[in-house]
Amino acid sequence: FNVPAIKNEPVKSYLPGSPERIELKKALEEARSKVIEIPQYIGSKEIFSQNKHAISPPHDHQHVLGYFHEGTQEDVKEAVHAALEARESWASMSWEQRASIFLKAAELIAGPYRAEINAATMLGQSKNAYQAEIDSACELIDFLRLNVNFMKDIYEQQPESSDGVWNRMEYRPLEGFVFAITPFNFTAIAGNLPAAPALMGNVVLWKPAFTQVYSAHVIMKVFKKAGLPDGVINMILADGPVAGEIIFKHADFAGIHFTGSTKVFQTIWKTIGENIPVYKSFPRIVGETGGKDFVLAHQSADAKAVATGLIRGAFEYQGQKCSAASRAYIPSNLWEEVKELMIKDLAEIKMGGVEDFSNFVNAVIDEKSFDKITTYIENAKEDATTEIIAGGNYDKSKGYFVEPTIIRAFQPDYVTLCEEIFGPVLTVYVYEEDKFEEIIPVIDSTSPYALTGAVFATDRYAIQYATEHLVNSAGNFYINDKPTGAVVGQQPFGGARASGTNDKAGSVLNLLRWISPRAIKETL
Ligand code: NAD
Ligand code: ALA
Repeated sequence: FNVPAIKNEPVKSYLPGSPERIELKKALEEARSKVIEIPQYIGSKEIFSQNKHAISPPHDHQHVLGYFHEGTQEDVKEAVHAALEARESWASMSWEQRASIFLKAAELIAGPYRAEINAATMLGQSKNAYQAEIDSACELIDFLRLNVNFMKDIYEQQPESSDGVWNRMEYRPLEGFVFAITPFNFTAIAGNLPAAPALMGNVVLWKPAFTQVYSAHVIMKVFKKAGLPDGVINMILADGPVAGEIIFKHADFAGIHFTGSTKVFQTIWKTIGENIPVYKSFPRIVGETGGKDFVLAHQSADAKAVATGLIRGAFEYQGQKCSAASRAYIPSNLWEEVKELMIKDLAEIKMGGVEDFSNFVNAVIDEKSFDKITTYIENAKEDATTEIIAGGNYDKSKGYFVEPTIIRAFQPDYVTLCEEIFGPVLTVYVYEEDKFEEIIPVIDSTSPYALTGAVFATDRYAIQYATEHLVNSAGNFYINDKPTGAVVGQQPFGGARASGTNDKAGSVLNLLRWISPRAIKETL
């Protein structure tokens, strides 16, 4: 098995005057100066409809970037048909040919499409240039390239043979089609969820979030340009339940690759369960869902490292990362210093549109999200058991802006310490510095999620104790680092409990879910 040597894509700096900054600024201006029409991509067709919706930057909601054309159940049926038509030739294509298409897509994003996809992510999802670069450029490129290596690792696994007997494994795709449903917050996830099963020989229906269609459309263009045959990945723009009504009742539904909220995944799982007798095979169910990610500091921790980890972990991309630090447990001896450092850092942070590269915080994704986040903030302002430490203001007149907000809760089960908010809100609980061992079961039991978590300490016993006793509380656990920013191939990503099936995106474990191997014994 011969695949190109692969390493993670370097993050470009976008420093003033750098060629990448000039190119990105140009792409932003170009995108803002036109109005595009985004169709569904089904088989060889681009489908436009009468039912179209405006796409606006969350930080500038009166500006129209374009329109996406919503699909119907008839379109979904056509997409299933197109996928199944494409299946045989795609599944029988050599793995090298499939791999080369996705490696080519990675090259296109790394080169000629980098500025366009970053600009689309910045404008459509309100991500600053750095957040777009690590997502829609580097992480997506890493998924596309490294998946080829993970595939190779699988295909190389062959059983022992003996005299007169040749045993072998045939790594076939699933029998049917895969449904990929993706969230708004990571362009890389939107690209990987259809690409990973397709690389393994499957045909896919892909439904991006309506709030991410602007960059999803660039991914689809890149896949086509890289030579992906018609029908292998079909981008449908029907509403989730509308698409689900056709897909989850289809005999050839073979698997779901989902990332999004826990509630939606629970609904999907229930629907699949109700339809089990309909399917030819038991579908693969892979879902990465919500989080209530924690930072635990020990009394030996470095206060500056804790404060920096919290500011970056909680407020980068407005706290809209599934991995975002949203609850912190700080010992009483460190609290005053951590608090002062965080307030100082926040005073230097600028909030505004993505076009001004000095803005660290941009807008939250839409009005529904803005209303949900600000309701938590208002409730905290009125609650006698909490104190607002920083932020607390918001404004939706031009864009959906919410100030980075820190709440101190005096009860360990206060609602913002337990529920996923998905916005720039961090809740801190200060515990007595000698009660480190007692705070651990509180962290473990006050939220149903288990996605990411971090411990900050210099004391080796504290590190070991937290690592052992928070074993089921986070699928990705960080020691002396923020709980965000997993890198493909370095920290395979996923959570357990209410955070998902923990199939570790960006690893061989995920790709294993998209094959149905056949073991062959031949007597010679
Ligand atoms: P969401 O659950 O609202 O939507 C996710 C996708 O599901 C969208 O494409 C949406 O249209 C679709 N959908 C909604 N209802 C559906 C239905 N009934 N049937 C089929 N599809 C349906 O999530 P979101 O707001 O886009 O993203 C934020 C959520 O995603 C957060 O909870 C976050 O923690 C989670 N997330 C998790 C990970 C992870 O790796 N664990 C990564 C990113 C985001
Ligand atoms: N890769 C993303 C992170 O770890 C989800 O923050």
